[in-house]
Amino acid sequence: MRITFVGHASMFIETEHGSILCDPWFNPAFFASWFPFPSNEYLDLSRISRPDYLYVSHLHHDHFDPQFLAEHVSKDATVLLPDYPMDHLGKELADLGFQRFVRTTNSQPVEVDGLRIMIEALVAPTDGPIGDSGLAVDDGETRIFNQNDSRPTELESLLAFGPYDGHFLQFSGAIWFPMVYDFAPKMKQALGRKKRAVEMARAKRYAEELGGTSVFPCAGPPAFLDDDLFDLNDFDRDPANIFPDQQVFLEYLRSEGMDNARLLIPGTVATLQDGKCEVEHPVPEAEVDRIFARKREYLEAYRARRRSCIQAARASWPQPDIDILAEIKPWWEGILEQADLTCAGVNGRVLLEVGHESFVIDFLDRRVDRWHGEECRYRFRIDQALVERCIARRDEDWVNELFLSCRFEAQRDGPYNEYVYNFFKCLSAERIQYAEGYFAEQAPVLELYPFGDYLVQRRCPHLKADLARFGEVEDGVLTCQLHGWQFELETGRCLTSDDRRLYTKPNRDEATS
Ligand code: FES
Repeated sequence: MRITFVGHASMFIETEHGSILCDPWFNPAFFASWFPFPSNEYLDLSRISRPDYLYVSHLHHDHFDPQFLAEHVSKDATVLLPDYPMDHLGKELADLGFQRFVRTTNSQPVEVDGLRIMIEALVAPTDGPIGDSGLAVDDGETRIFNQNDSRPTELESLLAFGPYDGHFLQFSGAIWFPMVYDFAPKMKQALGRKKRAVEMARAKRYAEELGGTSVFPCAGPPAFLDDDLFDLNDFDRDPANIFPDQQVFLEYLRSEGMDNARLLIPGTVATLQDGKCEVEHPVPEAEVDRIFARKREYLEAYRARRRSCIQAARASWPQPDIDILAEIKPWWEGILEQADLTCAGVNGRVLLEVGHESFVIDFLDRRVDRWHGEECRYRFRIDQALVERCIARRDEDWVNELFLSCRFEAQRDGPYNEYVYNFFKCLSAERIQYAEGYFAEQAPVLELYPFGDYLVQRRCPHLKADLARFGEVEDGVLTCQLHGWQFELETGRCLTSDDRRLYTKPNRDEATS
């Protein structure tokens, strides 16, 4: 098996039974904040543009680059699709022109023309943009696991698929914490230090647990090239910086007694054969070393090359005709109305400062209004142009589109509250219903809801819509109006699909009264 590293989390896997292009990312992501590091500007795209298979692990834009896929990847490629309950990834790829899909089942190996593959899909609201995944590949001689930035919680199926000759995984930060928060400098340093240590220790733990013969750091860190963000790069091995680079991680592993990890830069070819790993870089070793040893110089030159691209992106953001409150009030109040568990989880107010205006998202009274000095537990200050842009595109996931840009400031009273960011990931009825259902299923007792003579599980077996809101009964058939799935009340049988059932039981009190 021959693997050409394409940069960040991307790789081109060549085997006797076909090739797989994974997560190709070339265009800047998240409002031109993130660029691949080291740069992949000079790669020969003709080598990777006609893969047999395409795998996009998830929809974060450092993995899903629609412009690159549209312009450079053959639509004849068969997509290896993770088993996500909501099919946003499949729809995006179909919209780009891909037509052939292998829809995998989570944790189940599948044969595709001589290749054995398995996709480990993670589906909690906290997993990436609601859905993150890793790909295991076996060509009959060599096995690899491309974990990228997924965090599988059960390793049994992965261990059963192995053992692995190569394991590719993330070790560096991909978040805005703690940099955007207004913590006191000492506290921010301490939090950054802890985060950096935890990220590398977690990656080492995965590497140990899966026991790959060779380990390859990938999926980060990004390069921040905009002048506003340039200082986020870890130029000088600052122990409080959450973006350690590949060399830092390799040294960390060696200091912990692991010397089986290898450096990849864009264009590096790793050949895995007969239990051995040969690595060939596209440039002499001295040049590879210089990227990391003289990183500031490297990134300054990279920034100069991409300056016009950043300026063009910035010029496209403002959408000046937007009345922000008129847009977000009906939209977000409609979400809050359905978000019982999210509202209970936030249990407070969030202040949004946008340009000269301030808005309150009140999770207690479920309203969005101009701010009149109410106490708020969370505060975000965000550039008006970015908010306008998200509104104009009707973005349903502002974490993917906006927060990962790190182009905002935040403040909070008390500890991190995951419900706040989950709300911003779920700005559509489908997404909030899924998240609410997911949270509900974490409760120890299955909640039942009365429909006539039956008690029925409260959450739809399709994508967890609240049936108390979306369920309609006619002639003994319950229809969930979110996507129209139907269930026979007497038996629980699904009339729309053959792999889901609705739990129902007679509502004896009512039936006998
Ligand atoms: S959630 Fe899709 S039909 Fe109910």
